[in-house]
Amino acid sequence: MSKATFPKDFLWGGATAAYQCEGAWKEDGKGFAVTDLLTAGTREIPRIFTPEEKENTYYPAKQAIDHYHHYKEDIALFAEMGFKVYRMSISWVRIFPNGDDEIPNQKGLEFYHKIFQECKKYGIEPLVTISHHDVPLALALKQDGWLSRKTISAFVNYCETIFKEYKDEVKYWIVFNEINMMTSYFGDIYTGGILSNGTTHLDIAHASEEALSADKMKKRFKALHHQFVACAKVVEIGHKINEQFKIGSMVAADAHYPYSCNPVNVIAAQKSMRRIWYCADVMVRGEYSYVADSYLMDQGICLTDLDITVEDKAILQAGTIDFLALSYYTSGCHAVDEVHETTAGNFSLGVANPYLKKSDWGWVFDPQGLRWMLNELYGRYNIPLFIAENGLGAVDEIGEDGKIHDPYRMQYLDNHVSAMREALEDGVNLMGYTWWGPIDLISASTGEMKKRYGFIYVDRDNEGNGSLKRIRKDSFYRYQEIIKTNGACVK
Ligand code: BG6
Repeated sequence: MSKATFPKDFLWGGATAAYQCEGAWKEDGKGFAVTDLLTAGTREIPRIFTPEEKENTYYPAKQAIDHYHHYKEDIALFAEMGFKVYRMSISWVRIFPNGDDEIPNQKGLEFYHKIFQECKKYGIEPLVTISHHDVPLALALKQDGWLSRKTISAFVNYCETIFKEYKDEVKYWIVFNEINMMTSYFGDIYTGGILSNGTTHLDIAHASEEALSADKMKKRFKALHHQFVACAKVVEIGHKINEQFKIGSMVAADAHYPYSCNPVNVIAAQKSMRRIWYCADVMVRGEYSYVADSYLMDQGICLTDLDITVEDKAILQAGTIDFLALSYYTSGCHAVDEVHETTAGNFSLGVANPYLKKSDWGWVFDPQGLRWMLNELYGRYNIPLFIAENGLGAVDEIGEDGKIHDPYRMQYLDNHVSAMREALEDGVNLMGYTWWGPIDLISASTGEMKKRYGFIYVDRDNEGNGSLKRIRKDSFYRYQEIIKTNGACVK
């Protein structure tokens, strides 16, 4: 049998998020997002959320990589790699500084027009994430962010505004980045803006029992329900504004395996996948699935705690998504029969897989897991999939020749492209692939610059020093070749 090739119109590209790259955090009328006020951390030192800007404190989002002023140069470099698509996020607080203002901020609207014009110049299709870790601080302070139903209407108004504004420039949308992040305690800050839960120190791997109490989990799942309702409303409204819109939403979809064939571990792994199904079922199928209640019971709560109304159910049914976007970085194993060393990732992922190697930040490399995950998702939902994030955060050094040689990143890329091709051979319908952080940017979990994902190096360090000069790494040319040959150069 001949090997599957990537579809002719496959959308190759890269993905960024506003608060991790734009900088210019108070410029041109922008308000604060909750995540703007996260201090810098490391793998060992957690980032801290401060409800107001503190003096003598370094906030990486303040300048980030200053994409706000370098966007022309950055998009030109993406074009040089041959990008077909650029996934970026609109910052809600650039458009509505307080989240629910009467009128939008014109300067904010203009900035994204400029981005889309620049993309158009090179034939790059924009893919816009509407909400990527940026709950407006004002809404978090006023009404506990997504815990309040009032945030649904503020968000819908924001979406309607940008849909109308950019209806002729943008076709592809992702409503929520990794919506299932709300099932974890750090979702309070990154995606929920639930300040009453008192979460400030973001130590992703070590959640205290108190942080996971039933009372706090209830607030998170209520907020998540409000996001589902908002997502469905937005899909319906978007299709009315432009019937050509393709509107998706996203889950973090790292793979979960049983550590051994002991049936108790198999069940544990199956259960841990519910963190993905719980969310994707609602967005794709328009209703909570049969496992929802039992999944919630594991968190000490139940569906009736969420105040789901008859009207909500009708809204969920009417606004199912056109495609499912996912992030995939790594995998973890589940063992309940024995104690083993845990693994790291953008969620807690259980036990480290003894067959796999790890990155400098402890995330295991598992390209086969991507193929497995794509099959799990497509088999369950049968709608087009989009890999909205995948990438390797590593320490890069400038060599004596002034260049950055990153064979580890090229290897990671090749292996995942190969896994995608295998998934295509399996019959998965895959629309595109956007590498996370095609240009170095601020790490979400640690706030570091040192954890670099880019094909393009940015001269900036963890303390915010550096010229911001952009330098092409070796992987830049590898991705260029992959796109040019539509994946054929990868064996
Ligand atoms: C995803 C987020 O969870 O992982 C991105 O959507 C994030 O915003 C990416 O940057 C990689 O995680 P990190 O912590 O290495 O930046």
